Amino acid sequence: MKALITLALLGLALPAMADRLPLPGDTPASYRAECGSCHLAYPPALLSAKDWQRTLGSLEQHFGSDAAVDSPKRQEISAFLQRHAGDTSKLGSAGEPPRITQTPRFVRHHREVPAKYWRDPRVKSAANCEACHRGAADGRYSEHDIALPELRR
Ligand code: HEC
Ligand code: HEC
Repeated sequence: MKALITLALLGLALPAMADRLPLPGDTPASYRAECGSCHLAYPPALLSAKDWQRTLGSLEQHFGSDAAVDSPKRQEISAFLQRHAGDTSKLGSAGEPPRITQTPRFVRHHREVPAKYWRDPRVKSAANCEACHRGAADGRYSEHDIALPELRR
């Protein structure tokens, strides 16, 4: 009986956890400042260690932008991302250059979002998490907290 109750509680807890992705407590200020100036400071768990390493290895040519940081900051950001990176086997391949939005995990979470919304003028790009997830800066991704009324539950 006790095991059943535990299982039931786990079942309730698991879906709720997938919509909470706050930045870890040890997030360096450099990550928020340098990697959160052009877009959301993405949750580290959404890319693998290898893909973060590749991202940090080519910051001078970063999706058409120069996102270079000085060497001490790069070391600090790199160590942080390696500590909290996600598991490749759960995320799947992020492509080249690595994109969170290309991982099968991301695609799975968004399979109910009709394709036209990725190019909607209010959104512009799938990488623009905050256009839809109002609470993204605080790590809240609940399906009830979506900015576009048509996509809200
Ligand atoms: C000068 C602006 C700028 C800075 C600074 C910057 N980025 Fe980016 N980043 C971009 C642009 C532009 C894109 C492409 C966005 C799009 O496709 O809509 C991008 C995309 C990304 C993506 C892929 C998003 C996706 O589609 O899944 C990752 C991961 C990423 N950046 C990580 C970082 C990290 C880590 C840092 C800090 C070292 C950083 N960025 C700093 C401009 C920047
Ligand atoms: C076009 C709007 C849109 C954009 C842009 C978007 N999302 Fe979502 N996202 C949604 C919607 C809608 C859902 C709920 C899907 C469902 O449950 O049917 C969702 C679900 C999620 C979930 C799962 C939440 C749960 O309840 O388990 C996560 C995590 C997530 N998004 C993260 C991101 C991240 C990170 C980005 C940016 C890299 C992003 N999303 C960009 C609309 C968007």
